[in-house]
Amino acid sequence: MDELRLKLAIQKSGRLTEPSLDLLMRCGLKISRGKDQLMAYGENMPLDVLFVRDDDIPDLVQEDVCDLGLVGLNVLEEKRLELASRGHPARFQQVRTLDFGRCRLSLAVPEGASFEGPRTLQGKRIATTYPYLLEKYLRERDVSAEIVTLSGAVEIAPRLGRADLICDLVSTGSTLQANHLREVETVLESHAVLIRTPLDLPPLKDEWVERLLMRIDGVQQVRESKYIMLHAPRSALTEIRKLLPGSESPTIIPLEGSPDRVAIHAVCRENVFWETLESLKKAGASALLVLPVEKMLA
Ligand code: PRP
Ligand code: ZN
Repeated sequence: MDELRLKLAIQKSGRLTEPSLDLLMRCGLKISRGKDQLMAYGENMPLDVLFVRDDDIPDLVQEDVCDLGLVGLNVLEEKRLELASRGHPARFQQVRTLDFGRCRLSLAVPEGASFEGPRTLQGKRIATTYPYLLEKYLRERDVSAEIVTLSGAVEIAPRLGRADLICDLVSTGSTLQANHLREVETVLESHAVLIRTPLDLPPLKDEWVERLLMRIDGVQQVRESKYIMLHAPRSALTEIRKLLPGSESPTIIPLEGSPDRVAIHAVCRENVFWETLESLKKAGASALLVLPVEKMLA
């Protein structure tokens, strides 16, 4: 393996796979990937992508097999606690919070069962694939319950009589619904994060990590941003500027042949809704145009 190429681990198949690949493409990475291949070669960056089970991503960075990883906070925090329980410090750093992979680790009880706060859990059996996060949750609430650690299919544990309730990831809620379970408490709010090794990297690799981080920031800013153009009476400038959502110093351009009207161009850092356009029109704006922003570099 080429020592000067960055290795980035992402989830092989699951909720993070598609948005992770999408983020990398938006950062300009072109990869060639054979079907079912574990590793994809970055054609235009010294960066290769490894497709692995999400649970393995922190370990791969921990053990210096990969320099970077895109992983859910749920998996990361569970691993951190597991390492701590064995007296090992975590050897990965969280370097970016990402705007995808939102889900939560929650407690869920069978539909008919009652729940009146954490005390209800006393003496109960709780099935989960996140024993360390669950143990911490229980310990902080001074509740003692039996943690039934499973490697999957947690949602059927109550029906099989293996547990009274579960602690599992919930995203859309459809898995819970299909299994007649009711979400009662959030243990951890999660989203995807980018992690890196705390080790010093050779200068070339380090430079590419920095470039990737900058591009990720740009991609995430752009997702919400819009470019807005409109015409307005000079007299309404103050009011119109106040209506532009999240914009700094718009460009004001004189309009040939109409001395009392100007064109305004601005980048809005928030989505521009119909309501905003309607208010702008009421304030005297015309020729309104909203465009998506493709790239941004501060
Ligand atoms: C989680 C969880 C549920 C499902 C919930 O598994 O175990 O099966 O997602 O999602 P929903 O609320 O949208 O139905 P995940 O896909 O993360 O698999 P993994 O834990 O094996 O990685
Ligand atoms: Zn997993």
